[in-house]
Amino acid sequence: MPEKNRQIFLVETPAGKLQESHFEMRTGDIPAPQDGQVQVRNLLLSLDAANRAWMQGDTYRKGVGAGDAMDGYGIGVVTQSESDRFAAGDIVGAAVGWQDYSVHKAHRLEKLPADVKPLSHLISLYGIAGKTAYHGLVQVGRPKEGETVLVSAAAGSVGMFVGQIARNLGCRTIGLAGGPEKCAWVTDTLGFDACIDYKNEPYRRRIAELAPDGVDIYFDNVGGAVLEAALFNMAMKGRIVCCGAISQYDTTEMTSPRGVPGIHVFKRLRMEGFIVMDFADRDAEAVRDMGRWFRDGKMVVEEDILDGLENAPRGLIGLLAGDNRGKRMIRVAPDPA
Ligand SMILES: NC(=O)c1ccc[n+]([C@@H]2O[C@H](COP(=O)([O-])OP(=O)(O)OC[C@H]3O[C@@H](n4cnc5c(N)ncnc54)[C@H](OP(=O)(O)O)[C@@H]3O)[C@@H](O)[C@H]2O)c1
Repeated sequence: MPEKNRQIFLVETPAGKLQESHFEMRTGDIPAPQDGQVQVRNLLLSLDAANRAWMQGDTYRKGVGAGDAMDGYGIGVVTQSESDRFAAGDIVGAAVGWQDYSVHKAHRLEKLPADVKPLSHLISLYGIAGKTAYHGLVQVGRPKEGETVLVSAAAGSVGMFVGQIARNLGCRTIGLAGGPEKCAWVTDTLGFDACIDYKNEPYRRRIAELAPDGVDIYFDNVGGAVLEAALFNMAMKGRIVCCGAISQYDTTEMTSPRGVPGIHVFKRLRMEGFIVMDFADRDAEAVRDMGRWFRDGKMVVEEDILDGLENAPRGLIGLLAGDNRGKRMIRVAPDPA
């Protein structure tokens, strides 16, 4: 057990590409819980594209600016509790931040099932990634059997689940991913019907070739030029699920797709954004279906876990550059025995 708390701060707000020099590791005392609070030993941090988006200012939550401790979702084990709602040894999820230990008011913690093995599945399959994919596709996209679903960042954490859920619901699935290796993995391992290498192929034309009758649902993780290519290939009454815009997070040159709103008008499209928490009241449904597909061998779970808190900045920069396959996390401490 460490005797000090390591904590990573954002020391400069990035103007353009995020770099390791924008962060600094500091060491301090391990925070002690006060009445009604709980101390958590962080086990795994979820690295999310959103961590970079928060540096652009306030959005669905308060932004992270220069001088702030880096925030981030993660899971941990309760080490001391001054609340009767939690006991030492409980597994919890929260905005634990990029640090070894965190202290929280009890109501800010979610108690998680400690019997899930490995615990990392609480971040991938049963966590933000899986729930975002499920709610975004099922609740917002509302797929029907036989429809064609296109998803970007298909080899990433949300995208890999979206395509598999769509396939399990009887849809045709087309992914977009960067590079031939990722595309081969998306079709051969994840079981998508096709995958377009958006870095090396004329993707707007390829979408048209692979979906000659149009795309019924485009699950958008990237925004920008890829969103534009999808828009021009939508079917009548198509739905665009706006999950995120990773192409716009790590740059000062934002691009908007052309064709808005003309295409929406003549194709009667619905374009709708969402945040995973919007559907918290339906999380149990997501966890139930994802678990059933996983146990039935119909859901591949790929986790990309980097060891060591000190590697969080490098891990996030790599995620934005497409180094990851599947759900990227940082291992801060081993799972309890
Ligand atoms: N709405 C919500 O509640 C919610 C919740 C969670 C996540 N999200 C969103 O989901 C998306 C995925 O995030 P994640 O954290 O799960 O990351 P991820 O998909 O695991 O990783 C990001 C991937 O994006 C791809 N990418 C990076 N720059 C790109 C670009 N310019 N054009 C196309 N693809 C690019 C890279 O793959 P390639 O090698 O294929 O380029 C990279 O591996 C993000 O937009 C995020 O904001 C939304």
